[in-house]
Amino acid sequence: MTDSTQRPGALFNDEDSNRSANPTFESVLGARLSRRHLLRGGAGAAVAGSAVLGGCATPATDAPAGPVTQLGFTPVAHSLADTVVVPPGYTAQVLYGGGDPLKAGVAAFKNDGSDADWGNRAGDHHDGIEWFGLDAQGKPSDSFTSRGLLAMNHEATTDEKLSSFFIHANGGTATLPRPAAEIDKELMIHGISVVEVRRDSRRWATRQDSPLNRRITTMSEAVFTGPAAGSAHLVTRFSPTGTKARGTVNNCGTGRTPWGTFVSGEENWFGYFFRDAQDDTRRNDPKITAAFNRYGRRAGAASRHGWESGGSDDRFQRWNTGLTGASAREDYRNEFHTFGYIVELDPYNPNALLTKRTALGRFAHENVSFAKPVAGQPIVAYMGCDARGEYIYKFVSTEKWDAADAQPRNRLAAGDKYLDSGTLYVARFNADGSGEWLELSPKNPAIAAYKGFDFKTQADVCVFTRLAADAVGATKMDRPEWTGVNPKNGEVYITLTNNSARTAATVDAANPRAYTDMKAGKEQKGNVHGHIVRLAEAQPTEAKFRWDIYLFASEADADKATVNLSNLSPENDLSSPDGLVFSPATGICWIQTDDGAYTDKTNCMLLAAMPGRVGDGASVTLKAGDKDVTTHAGKPQTPATLRRFLVGPKGAEITGITETPDGRAIFVNIQHAGENTKMADVTDPTKYESQWPANAGYGAGKRPRSATIVITKNDGGVVGT
Ligand code: FEO
Ligand code: CA
Ligand code: CA
Ligand code: CA
Repeated sequence: MTDSTQRPGALFNDEDSNRSANPTFESVLGARLSRRHLLRGGAGAAVAGSAVLGGCATPATDAPAGPVTQLGFTPVAHSLADTVVVPPGYTAQVLYGGGDPLKAGVAAFKNDGSDADWGNRAGDHHDGIEWFGLDAQGKPSDSFTSRGLLAMNHEATTDEKLSSFFIHANGGTATLPRPAAEIDKELMIHGISVVEVRRDSRRWATRQDSPLNRRITTMSEAVFTGPAAGSAHLVTRFSPTGTKARGTVNNCGTGRTPWGTFVSGEENWFGYFFRDAQDDTRRNDPKITAAFNRYGRRAGAASRHGWESGGSDDRFQRWNTGLTGASAREDYRNEFHTFGYIVELDPYNPNALLTKRTALGRFAHENVSFAKPVAGQPIVAYMGCDARGEYIYKFVSTEKWDAADAQPRNRLAAGDKYLDSGTLYVARFNADGSGEWLELSPKNPAIAAYKGFDFKTQADVCVFTRLAADAVGATKMDRPEWTGVNPKNGEVYITLTNNSARTAATVDAANPRAYTDMKAGKEQKGNVHGHIVRLAEAQPTEAKFRWDIYLFASEADADKATVNLSNLSPENDLSSPDGLVFSPATGICWIQTDDGAYTDKTNCMLLAAMPGRVGDGASVTLKAGDKDVTTHAGKPQTPATLRRFLVGPKGAEITGITETPDGRAIFVNIQHAGENTKMADVTDPTKYESQWPANAGYGAGKRPRSATIVITKNDGGVVGT
């Protein structure tokens, strides 16, 4: 969702509960990284005219792509138009919009707020997305390029004053209590969808009657696995054994496991819950109160949608996570603890239950990326916690990789094997360009001795992970979003989207910028535009790393000594990097923005990058207020190494991206076009901020919708090259 820290009035994504005194490295040591050389290729290119949405794609051939050494398209200019802009020679086709039917017999989407049966339609706010291939017989395939499943997150909804307003005819109810019928729709628009897609000779289409189409919603049954499964923390009226949960919510980034399943992060789930102002008093447990506060849910805070107000039925009452009954088996005091996990889904098996993998910790999970699996070595996963001042995590499995598990007979059994037992770590960045992965377990003396919570078991650590990370002195980062592993060298990239709370007093080497940016005459402060940090490990299982800052996001005309440290130009400047995915086919690093800071000049965007490696730049010292801070910058950018590929419609964030195995079709999610529309204007299309994708010829009505687009090169070539 759009970063509301930059959007006055919208507080939902403004979670900022890390009050720990963890280090910010104010004293800078100035030690330098050892330097290595970077291989570079490609020539600069000028911003030129760009193609807009329309036309047909040429069929792709099946030739493999292979890693590329240079980008091969004309950079797309800034755009404030209500359209998707892609480079000349490319075509973007809208493929799958919110509300599209996923089952035979489900009515076409009218898009006027009257549509029902949301459990059999695409959800709202398309986010992370992954491709799972199918062969001509409909069996799983890693190589087939014209038929597959798209599995994706439906993170949230465009809302104002409680109501998800575009899905209700009149905008819905903005006061409590809210009508059950409205809430029932909203419970169904969140979650995950799986949809079959096919390319016929020229165009891609979804298949409405595919037996593999599926929705997971806030009401779908799920199972817990890993250390916290069956623990007292997860006991609810729904699951007195603490082994089951209902649904998933606010799913943001995604990943694809080495064994062929879909993984998804539960991110801003905290805001969906309510507990009344007396809840702390009734509980009389200061450490649980501290834990609720640390996870952003103070007693008395209003919930995002008021779902708890829908009536006495369990499906509404579960969103009141206060102590209301005689025991945890009789109320939902622990429902809050049943969210915040990495969830795993087998997209090929429509009957398999959603699995919540507690071993990977509980926080505001963005996505998961995996180090390239090596036979005989553990599986390693990298994860970010997206809130201001939160941390970066890594999980190392106990079990060693067996290459036969790349095609397992039972995919979720492989998930059990690699994701339920292992070691969870959190990152500490040192000023000298080194870093450490700190173990999160009661065996760590810092956790055993921690006064803020009683950590006795790994279940405690897996449910109250943020507090465990506080205990070991992890580094507070500028909102960690997606992680991605560079297939060329195994280095790990993490987008740090922005941080309005970063100040000159709290800058450190890894989060070195606090500055002022002007937007339409108003000051924006902090790390307004965000950056991308990257890590190099001798082995993914190592407890140490070296780091540098690959990219400082910035407006091109900002001061090059303090803000535009990566030498960005109009062809590649950006704000608020969020999605980051390396193409397995080409090695291109795709970067997507979730920006509220630069949107006076351009809508959100997708850029393509050819990154080098940790240490390819130089240490630089910059001013933050009257303080000097030394950081380790990657090599400055040129349009040859980073250039804009796409700009989205008005009000939209560019979220997930995935591709066919040949790299000749990429699927990109466009989230919340028109999100700055007022609820009062819901029936007046002339007042919508956006009418996309209807204005691109897709579907009925004029209300803006989130949607998946597919982009192909008109000559059938590999995208980005
Ligand atoms: Fe849902 Fe952190 O973006
Ligand atoms: Ca600005
Ligand atoms: Ca995101
Ligand atoms: Ca974001």
